[in-house]
Amino acid sequence: MVEELILSTQGNREDQYNLLIPQIESLIDSEPDLIANLANISAALKTAFGFLWVGFYLVKNDELVLGPFQGPIACTRIQKGKGVCGKAWESGDSIIAPDVDQFPGHIACSSASKSEIVVPVLVNGEVAGVLDIDSSELNDFDGVDQHNLQKLMDTLAETWVTPIALCI
Ligand code: SME
Repeated sequence: MVEELILSTQGNREDQYNLLIPQIESLIDSEPDLIANLANISAALKTAFGFLWVGFYLVKNDELVLGPFQGPIACTRIQKGKGVCGKAWESGDSIIAPDVDQFPGHIACSSASKSEIVVPVLVNGEVAGVLDIDSSELNDFDGVDQHNLQKLMDTLAETWVTPIALCI
């Protein structure tokens, strides 16, 4: 596995994803444990882009429950349809909130968060969890993030095996 990420501070965000995503794929390809992979994906994205918060919420008993993340402490449970995460879960589509204060029902876990992207992980046609990223900058996400993160979540979905302990 990769011991240290090779990152570039040059180039645009597309170039940065092009450098980073193969390294993340190589990390998760060689590791069957879901929690280990979610933890490393969160760390890799936060390290590469310096986002405020990067992490996963996992669907358990019809709620989203906080999973592996990097950043400040966060709310632990989110209901379907609530907040950006609950809306992305309900719709099965990624959502960008360019200004979280303007997003109806946004759940503020940190006052430092200004914009947000949430990308669902679809396993056998069902949302199994969502990737949530918060930025301290307004309008920090666009179609480049949406496309690259969705591709990464599709790759993750192919290797997704829910441990029995996570079903309860
Ligand atoms: N803002 C999210 C809640 C999760 S935190 O950002 C980590 C939402 O509105 O769903």
